[in-house]
Amino acid sequence: MHSSVLKEEVYRYLEPKVQNELLIDATLGEGGHSEVFLERSEDIRVVGLDADQEILSVAKERLIPFSDRVRTFNIWFNTFFSHYPLGNERPDKILFDLGISNFHYKKARRGFSFERDEPLDMRLDHRLEISAMDIINEYPENELADLIFDFGEERLSRRIARAVVLARKTSPIETTGELKEIIWQAVPVSYRYGRIHPATRTFQAIRIVVNGELARLSVVLQQALMVLKKGGRMGVISFHSLEDRIVKEFFREKNKQCTCPPEWPICKCGGIRVVDILTKKPVTAGDDEMKENPSSRSAKFRVVEKLEEETV
Ligand SMILES: C[S@@+](CC[C@H](N)C(=O)[O-])C[C@H]1O[C@@H](n2cnc3c(N)ncnc32)[C@H](O)[C@@H]1O
Repeated sequence: MHSSVLKEEVYRYLEPKVQNELLIDATLGEGGHSEVFLERSEDIRVVGLDADQEILSVAKERLIPFSDRVRTFNIWFNTFFSHYPLGNERPDKILFDLGISNFHYKKARRGFSFERDEPLDMRLDHRLEISAMDIINEYPENELADLIFDFGEERLSRRIARAVVLARKTSPIETTGELKEIIWQAVPVSYRYGRIHPATRTFQAIRIVVNGELARLSVVLQQALMVLKKGGRMGVISFHSLEDRIVKEFFREKNKQCTCPPEWPICKCGGIRVVDILTKKPVTAGDDEMKENPSSRSAKFRVVEKLEEETV
């Protein structure tokens, strides 16, 4: 079972304050966070979303004891919020716990992890047209290098891309094991025994591109904020600096009273402060949680409260 990160902190910030609250868990995963809310509050209702049909089945099974208060949607979160299907029923709380789950690393057999030898797929939704294998075998060398640099923040991206292109001339690269070995051979010996495995950043970059993770995040925050009730709260857990930057900047922008350029003498935008930032610094895991669950080390949780409706 996935061990949900920052469970107590998430509950503390998003705890229901009135009866029959609606929580949208936009990244239901294995349902760990939702389960906490459903156990602790007897009348909260949860709408859970996940792009991955397989993990959604796991969550549904887990949440059977609460099935009269849970509805699930197999959908990308940005599609859900842009075609909001619940009409006037608006959420009191929205949670995003970004990225993928332990289920994906350990059980999905879709090549999310280089710890096991699996087909290079990495699609959360099998209906996506482009898989990791397509990217690795078909992207031109410079595009491959750019995406490994941009989405993996991998400084050896050019070397790695060169090695991939050289290797695929002999035969297509089809498994995580093959890609891991190519990366291992491409980097200097001194780089092989660092804090993280040299394939970590490249795998992250490819997964982000396959699933359009940053593009979806960049649009969904505004969409979700529009749907959220006035007085409601929205929390986001991110796991790497690229995600966190998007969240932080969006919240900051919505927290500004006026968005006119600073050199204008008076406000012409009539801007309103749409949210209050409840976490001046991101909430992170304590030592005990980090020891117990190493993936919590990079988790950053930011929360806002909606102050005003916005007309965009
Ligand atoms: C970190 S896990 C969530 C774990 C969950 N909070 C728990 O406690 O079990 C993230 C989940 O979000 C899903 N996901 C990631 N990006 C998504 C997106 N853009 N739309 C919908 N689901 C997404 C993944 O399939 C994964 O199951």
